[in-house]
Amino acid sequence: MKKKRILSGMRPTGKLHIGHYVGALENWVHLQDTYESYHLIADYHVLTTDLNTNSIYDDTIDMLIDWLSAGLDPLKSLIFRQSQIKEHTELNLIFSMLVTVSRLERNPTVKEQARALHIEQIIYGHLGYPVLQAADILLYKGDAVPVGEDQVPHIEITREIGRKFNNQYGVVFPEPEPLLTKFSRLPGLDGSAKMSKSLGNTILLSDSPETVKLKLRKAVTDPQKIRRNDPGRPEICLIFAYHKKFNPEQVPEIETNCRSGALGCVDCKMKCSEKLSFFLAPIIEKRNYYEKNINEVLDILADGEKRGKKVAEETMSSVHEKMKFG
Ligand code: TRP
Repeated sequence: MKKKRILSGMRPTGKLHIGHYVGALENWVHLQDTYESYHLIADYHVLTTDLNTNSIYDDTIDMLIDWLSAGLDPLKSLIFRQSQIKEHTELNLIFSMLVTVSRLERNPTVKEQARALHIEQIIYGHLGYPVLQAADILLYKGDAVPVGEDQVPHIEITREIGRKFNNQYGVVFPEPEPLLTKFSRLPGLDGSAKMSKSLGNTILLSDSPETVKLKLRKAVTDPQKIRRNDPGRPEICLIFAYHKKFNPEQVPEIETNCRSGALGCVDCKMKCSEKLSFFLAPIIEKRNYYEKNINEVLDILADGEKRGKKVAEETMSSVHEKMKFG
């Protein structure tokens, strides 16, 4: 049977943190064995919230190195930049005619983003962000899109636009399904619900053991547990959340000893940083390799863009044909 195709993407924000890994990358690495995988570096999408593009190329390469180091395999996953395959913008234009402004204004994800960033007057391209995303997905005829919960409204818009096109001009596009990443969001080092670069509360996939140790030392824990013997509440502790992900074998013991007070936060953090660095070691080793062999990274991108472009061109030629553009 022909493998189903997935497409997913990330904005290039530079070096990735462990929240990106848990929320997306880990899943992509698993899925590439089952699905034909396409992974897009959404560099044009960055413009929706940041017009300064000085670091866009470096951020792209840094993110790509993290993708590869964490296990995306270029033999299984096609990797490319949105900006290098012009068909994205072409299909975006056609799709922009197939959706109303009020439909886009109803999108909760963009609304929330605008609120979080204190944006009062939304930019046209930001409102149209999900249209470009629909083009990203449908250009490669993705059957499924592995994403987190926040992206589901965008997949719904993608389905509507594709359906509208198919009804109007004839069937070209599938109706992609969201493939929900199990909701495993890692809390940030400051205790925020989410790890995020803008909050400065991250552990990077490239952080050395020293850095991890320092960062964890400063992390907040249960404010009621001041001394070692004070009983702690693991359920509200971010370090405990990290143990659950990176140190599952010791979780029952840590839970008991935190609650009883036998385990102090300093020791608990030490254990956690050891486990985290143990997990990160092979990723860092690969990163070192790719940094030294940057041409290999650039070749992977060039190859992905060459092959991606071919698929995109084929789709656009059926689009033009159905639309009678000749
Ligand atoms: N909107 C996604 C995000 O902010 C990134 C993205 C761009 C994407 N194009 C995509 C995700 C296509 C899935 C499919 O995380």
